[in-house]
Parts: sequence; C-alpha cells; structure tokens
Amino acid sequence: MFQSVIRSVAHFVPSRRVTNDDLSKLMDTSDAWITERTGIKERRFVEDDSITTTTLAVEASTRALASAGWSADQVDLIIAATLSPDYYFPGIGVMIQRRLGCKTVPALDIRAQCSGLVYGLSCADGYVKSRQAKKILLVCAEVQSPVLDLTTRGRDMAVLFGDGAGALCIEAVPESEAHSRGILDSYLGSDGSGADVLCMKMPGTATPGFIKAADVERGVVHPQMEGKVVFKNAVTRLLETASTLLARNGLTSEQIDLILPHQANLRINEMVREQLGIPQERVFNNIQRYGNTTAATIPICMSEAAEQGRLQKGSLVMTLAFGAGFTWGGNLIRW
Ligand code: UT7
Repeated sequence: MFQSVIRSVAHFVPSRRVTNDDLSKLMDTSDAWITERTGIKERRFVEDDSITTTTLAVEASTRALASAGWSADQVDLIIAATLSPDYYFPGIGVMIQRRLGCKTVPALDIRAQCSGLVYGLSCADGYVKSRQAKKILLVCAEVQSPVLDLTTRGRDMAVLFGDGAGALCIEAVPESEAHSRGILDSYLGSDGSGADVLCMKMPGTATPGFIKAADVERGVVHPQMEGKVVFKNAVTRLLETASTLLARNGLTSEQIDLILPHQANLRINEMVREQLGIPQERVFNNIQRYGNTTAATIPICMSEAAEQGRLQKGSLVMTLAFGAGFTWGGNLIRW
C-alpha cells in the first residue's frame, strides 16, 4: 500500500492589491461594512487581461515543483481545480501540462468550486492508493475579478472575491516508509438543491446561444448568490465534515494541530471554530488579505502556514471547505 504524502506546497497571487477603500470608489460600499460582515480588508486582482487562470496556476506550480525538487517531466498526473478556466473548454489541466512542458500525462479538471482542493486531494489519494499515479501535481487557481460586477448592483458579490493560485506536489510513498504521514482520510458531500443559490449561469447550455447585450444589461452574466442561505449551509456542512472526520478516525478536536478552512467569511470560520472548541491559534485565516479565492483559498493558507512554520513534520491538519453546488468536504492529513 502507498500513502499520499504532500512533498511541497506553494502559492502565487497577483501583485495588484485592491483595498476596501478602492472598491468604495467604484460602488456604494464601505471598509466598515466589508470588514464587519466578512473580515476582508483587501484582495488581489490580476493586473490586466493577459493574465489568465493558467498564468497563476503555472506560477504556483513552478514554485511547488522547485520546492519538491521535481522536474515537470516527472509529474505523472495533473489535477486542476477551478471555476474560472481560461476557455469554456478545454479545461486548465491541459493548459498547465502544455505550459510546464510535462509529458503527455493525464490532466483533469475538477469543478467543485470552493471545494476544489478537498475534492482534489481526495482524488489524488484515490489515484495513489489504486497505484495509478506516483507524482501528482494538484493545482487550484482562479481569476475571478474580470467577471465581477464592480458597480453597486453587484456589490454583494464583488467585495468578496479575489484572484490567486496554490499548488501541491503529492507523492506515492510506500506505507513502510511514510511513517503514518500523508492523507489519512477525506470526507466529501454535495447537495444540488443549492445549485441555483450560488452560481454563474452564463455561458451554459441552459441559456443557449451567444450572450446577448440584454443579458449583460440585466447583469445575469455575473455570479449571483443568496448570501444568507449559503452562510447557514456552510456552517452546518463544515461542522458535519469536521465531526465526521474526527469521529471516524477516533480523534477529538484537541488533537488537531491546525485547521485550514476555506476563506469565504471570517464569521463562518469563527462560528465553526467556536462550535468545535478550538483556540484561535489553531485555525489559519488569511481572508483579510486575499478575500475569497474560491478553489485556491486552502492551498494558499497551507502554503503560508508552511512558510510560517505552523506545519511541522507530524502535525495533524484538517482542511474544511464549502462552496457552490453545494459541495463540501475536508481532508485529514499527517504532515
Ligand atoms: O465561497 C462560497 C461560499 N460563500 C459563502 O459562504 C458566503 C456566505 N455568505 C456570506 O458570507 C454573507 O451572507 C455575505 C457577506 C455575502 C453578506 O452578509 P449578510 O450579513 O448576509 O448581508 P446581507 O446580504 O443580508 O445584506 C445586508 C444589507 C443589505 O441591505 P438591506 O437590504 O439590509 O438594506 C444589502 O443590500 O447589506 C447590503 N449590502 C451591502 N452594503 C454595503 C450587500 N452588500 C453590500 C456591500 N456594501 N458590499
């Protein structure tokens, strides 16, 4: 048997900082509203249209590969997670394969929105345990700023999201050499009854044909959300995920060294933390600086936590995510 060991993690965000005050010049919002409701102080937006999701993904991947000491041609599987691909099709998995110069290995895209990392780790673990892959590059990347409605009409969504990417190198290590390190368990869920509660409907086959001027006029080309419904479901499902992972691995929350939660709202993460009875220093948050980068939030947190020495060899780590779909889940990892 093999264990899926995370050899490296890295992230990349665009250099352009957009503060709450910057947004309040574009729409009727304020630093006070955004900070109080979400915890966000600033986010990163790509500098211009030449920078795509693949650009960020390749930057993060290059850093992760260097840190693992792998060359691109050693990778035998690429898993990419995004809701903002460069093209409607093909996905970014193949774009990353091309740009990095990997061999003609399988490259797949996961469409699980904010749960992209937790679905991706579960998927990688499945490939490792079924002996189909030994060196996996898992990349989560988003460029969301170009589709946000940066006017007062779209302010409920526009203040939340940012651009960024994170990448992980995951290696199949024989159990005898892994010393209990690696992905220990994953728990995933979905509930399509929430599909219309948080979505971007265009382009898509439910609205065939080209996007019309009227669609742009009506604002239906932008993402939309019923925030309060998503908030309540997020708290419930994140707690369900944490308690399931703890119970079926015979653990208590005190034994978790660090939780890496999705960064959608600081209030959501605080509610979950309080219910789990975990002190603040054992939950990693950086939404203040990046906003919600969807699939990329958890790998960016993981990368920064590693840089800050908060992930030591042997640390017990739990990821937790909830997002559009609805999709949710988490992973239990021995670092
Ligand atoms: O990553 C995927 C998962 N996503 C989430 O988990 C997000 C979950 N939802 C949330 O985080 C919160 O629901 C939001 C942060 C999106 C919104 O917070 P809220 O406390 O639920 O506010 P609300 O939507 O109920 O809006 C309250 C008021 C409204 O005005 P009225 O109707 O009370 O007069 C909004 O029009 O705040 C207004 N508002 C704003 N005001 C200033 C909405 N957006 C803004 C804004 N600036 N950006």
